[in-house]
Amino acid sequence: AGNGFVLGIESSCDETGIGLYDLSQGRLAAHRVFSQIDLHAAYGGVVPELASRDHVRRIVPLIRETLEAGGCRRDQLAAIGYTTGPGLAGALLVGASVAEAMAAALDVPAIPIHHLEGHLLSPLLASEPPDFPFVALLVSGGHTQLMRVSGVGQYELLGESVDDAAGEAFDKTAKLMGLGYPGGPALSKLADQGVAGRFKLPRPMLHSGDLQFSFSGLKTAVLTATQAPDYSEARAADLAAEFQSAVVEVLCSKALAALRQTGLKQLVVAGGVGANRHLREHLVAAASKRHVKVFFPELEFCSDNGAMIALAAAMRMQAGCAKPTRDGAFVIRPR
Ligand code: KG4
Ligand code: ZN
Repeated sequence: AGNGFVLGIESSCDETGIGLYDLSQGRLAAHRVFSQIDLHAAYGGVVPELASRDHVRRIVPLIRETLEAGGCRRDQLAAIGYTTGPGLAGALLVGASVAEAMAAALDVPAIPIHHLEGHLLSPLLASEPPDFPFVALLVSGGHTQLMRVSGVGQYELLGESVDDAAGEAFDKTAKLMGLGYPGGPALSKLADQGVAGRFKLPRPMLHSGDLQFSFSGLKTAVLTATQAPDYSEARAADLAAEFQSAVVEVLCSKALAALRQTGLKQLVVAGGVGANRHLREHLVAAASKRHVKVFFPELEFCSDNGAMIALAAAMRMQAGCAKPTRDGAFVIRPR
């Protein structure tokens, strides 16, 4: 397993996340996340320039705090992992610069990690993790993908969104309904008070026969519904519920199709939308009928965090595939 600790640094968007993985114990020692949500809320979305500057302010104190919480001295660090992309360029560079500088000063390797690899492996931080291989449904603000995960660095893309990601659809729809930022949690909270089916929204690409998704049409359908003469604020919860059901039904149906296609029996859900309660309930119910086991990362590991980056870097190091490449050593083999 190795000795020492691996530090993980995440700064791709509006969260500064630091994780510390204990190699000898084979578990997470500590992690800290600082969310910039309050900073960006007034603008209705993430302002890249402000995000970068706030990462600069937070990152070193947060690293100190995490090392202390995990009982790790600097000379016990065996490697520094960091998110290399995708994400906001300025924000990513803050994490990359700090990680490369620390690695150089400590004379340990710096390991660039693809943000999505972090999300894909995050379920392994759970107390009862899945075994390889498994199907991963990755649903974040930037991505909606189905992957076959066979091992560290062995990811096969089965299908993805041709336009908006599921989280993006939640955010954009919430914005046009006047629910503020971040929209996903606000919209799903409103949906819990409504009844699906009172509005009729499409289930995009439900019967497309492949594992592709499309969510950009849904927000337009919601916009059209809000502009109808019989629409009033009183019906907003029902509209939100129907929107949530539409997204969840498609995600669920395609995830099950991916399991059928691969013959695998384990489904892992990762990314911010994985926090959605309706999605969780729907998947668990559907899976239990099919003898499939569904794994959700802890809520704190669903959204962006440094723990998943520390884990991915530790796993790459142990698997001997930590050598950095330009794209962060992340290979997705298209079908
Ligand atoms: O993985 P994540 O934290 O960041 C990215 O890498 O994108 O995902 C954030 C996304 C946002 O679009 C947010 O609105 C969505 O996840 N989200 C939710 C919920 N919680 C977060 N969407 C639906 N229901 C939720 N409960
Ligand atoms: Zn993310």
